[in-house]
Amino acid sequence: ATNRTFTMIKPDAVKNGHIGAILQQINEAGFRIVALKYTKLSTEKAGEFYDVHRGRPFYDDLVSFMSSGPIVAAVLEKDNAVADFRTLIGATNPAEAAAGTIRAKYATSIGENAVHGSDSDENAAIESNFHFAGTEVFA
Ligand code: CMP
Repeated sequence: ATNRTFTMIKPDAVKNGHIGAILQQINEAGFRIVALKYTKLSTEKAGEFYDVHRGRPFYDDLVSFMSSGPIVAAVLEKDNAVADFRTLIGATNPAEAAAGTIRAKYATSIGENAVHGSDSDENAAIESNFHFAGTEVFA
């Protein structure tokens, strides 16, 4: 069924000039952008977004990195969006990401890994609502 996922182009990929290439790869893979925002997370908002990882050894670095510079947030629509987007971005660790995936091409490290992709339909909705009001989403 057609459904939605949520993504962020992270500060490393923005800083390295990859916004355009990443959005193009997303579009060419058949995803439709239904919401899009260039923004920056405060440490508070980044901490809240990644609350599920609070207490993990990488949490503080993750929050500090994700609030270190601007990001691009987007909601994407496609048949089987969550799973297909995770295939498109590749493994969390770019060293393990399949050739041609967004992380294989643009990620720096497991922490600075270029893009986020929701891991479930439920989280896709939560994460989309975290970044976008209903009036900012256009199907
Ligand atoms: P993301 O999919 O956005 O969600 C959680 C993030 O935590 C993940 O991307 C990684 O960037 C980061 N992360 C996960 N595991 C580690 C790790 N072992 N060390 C550093 N960062 C990690």
